[in-house]
Amino acid sequence: MSSPTSESVIVCSQSGPLSGKVTVPGAKNSVLKLMAATLLADGVYELRNVPDITDVDYMTDLLVALGLDIERIDRHCLRIVNSGRISPVAPFALADRIRASVNVLGPLIGRFGDVHLALPGGDDFGGRPIDMHLSGLEAMGAQFDITEDGLVGRSTGRLKGADITFAFPSVGATENILMAAVVADGVTTISNAAREPEIGDLCAMLRSMGAHIDGVGTSTLVIRGVSPASMQSCVHEVVSDRVQAATFIAAVAMCGGDIDVLRAVPGHMEMLLTRYADMGMSILPIEDGLRVSCHQRLSSIDVATLPYPGIATDYKPLLVAMLATADGTGIVTENLYPGRFRYIEELQKLGADISVDGHHAVVRGREHLVGATVVAPDIRAGAALVVAGLAAQGMTEIHDVHHIDRGYDNLVGRLASLGGSINRID
Ligand code: UD1
Repeated sequence: MSSPTSESVIVCSQSGPLSGKVTVPGAKNSVLKLMAATLLADGVYELRNVPDITDVDYMTDLLVALGLDIERIDRHCLRIVNSGRISPVAPFALADRIRASVNVLGPLIGRFGDVHLALPGGDDFGGRPIDMHLSGLEAMGAQFDITEDGLVGRSTGRLKGADITFAFPSVGATENILMAAVVADGVTTISNAAREPEIGDLCAMLRSMGAHIDGVGTSTLVIRGVSPASMQSCVHEVVSDRVQAATFIAAVAMCGGDIDVLRAVPGHMEMLLTRYADMGMSILPIEDGLRVSCHQRLSSIDVATLPYPGIATDYKPLLVAMLATADGTGIVTENLYPGRFRYIEELQKLGADISVDGHHAVVRGREHLVGATVVAPDIRAGAALVVAGLAAQGMTEIHDVHHIDRGYDNLVGRLASLGGSINRID
C-alpha cells in the first residue's frame, strides 16, 4: 500500500442526517467505450451527459493521439470529430493509463485491420487478462502477437462474422467483439455475452450509427455486420452511473437521512436495491430517480459479487463499508477479482472489524467507526472510504484522491450539497 502523497486530500467529519437532492452523472464505464466507438465511422459526434472525470481526459488523450479531434463544448458535452485520418498505433504511455484503452482494440482491428496497443492499465485488482477479447477476434480472422511493447494485431481483409461463446460474460470482451462485429462481413453471435446496462448503452449508440444488433439486454447478441462506409456519426446521451448512484445511497445508509437521487435508474440496479432494502433501507422510485431514507442502524447481510444482473464487484467496497457499522456479521464474497480486498486495511484503520479469508471478507459490525488518515487504493474503494469517513467519529483524511477523480465527478461537492461535512484541500 502506498503512503499518503502531497497531492489533494479529502477531509471529512461525522455527518448526518443527510438531506436534499443529488443528480447522478453519466457512467464512466459507458462513456469510455462510447468514445472508442467513434473510431468506427467518420463524422461529427456529440456525447452528452459526459462525467467530468480524469479517465475521460485520459481516453481523450489516447483518441487524439490516434487521430480524433475532441473538444469539451461544456463540462458535460464532448464534440468528437473523426475525419478518417486514424493511425491505429496507440502510444504506450497513454494506453497504459486506463483499463478502457483496451476498448480501442475492437474498433481499430474491425475497421482498419491493424492495431498496436500497450497492454491495458487501470485499477490494480490483480491480473486482468484479455484472452477472451483476443480469442473472439481471432475467431473472426484477426491475428495477434504479444511483443515487448504490447499487443500487435492485424487481419488481412475485413473480419468475418463468427459464433463466439464466452466462458465468462466479460464486459470488456463483449464490448470489443461487438465493436468489431458491427463492421465485419456476415453475422456474429456472442453467446454468454455480458448484460451490463453500459453494454446496452453502447448497443444503443452503435445502432444510431447504423449497426444491426439483436438481443440487446440478453446474453445472446446477434450482430449483422454492415460495410464500414455505411456507418455514420451520431448524438448520444451517456447512461446514468449506477455505481455513483449506489454511492449516494450508501452515504445515507451510513449517515442516516432522506435524499432524492435524481437520474438513478432503478431498473439498472434492481438486485442491489433489494439487498439495500434487506439491510433496512427504504428506497422508492420517484419520477426521475429514487427517494432514499434511512433512520436506523442497518442489519448485516451476506452478499456475493456476480456479473449483471448480480451484485457488481464495483459496489462491493460500499457494501463492506456499510456492513462495518451494521448490526451483526456479514460475509462478502468476491467472485470476479480475487485481489479486490486491498482497501480492507484502510477500513480497519477507521476501526472496522474485518477479516479476509481467500475471496471472502467477514465483516463484524461495530456501533461506530473512528476517523483516521487513509489512502484510496482505487476508484470505488476510495469512494467507500469517503462514505465511511462521513460516518466515522472525528475527522478522516483520505489521500491519493487521484484514484477517486478517475471515476467520480465532483463527489465532494455532491456530498457537501447533501449536508455532508466534507472538504477537498488541493
Ligand atoms: C469492467 C469495468 C469494471 C468492472 C468489471 C466487472 C470498465 C472500464 N471496467 O471491467 O469497473 O469491475 O467490468 O463488472 O468498464 N477476464 C478474463 N479474460 C478476459 C476478460 C476478462 O479472464 O479476456 C476476467 C477478468 O480477469 C475478471 C473477470 O473476467 O476476473 C471480469 O472481467 P470483465 O468483465 O472483462 O471486466 P472489465 O471489462 O475489465
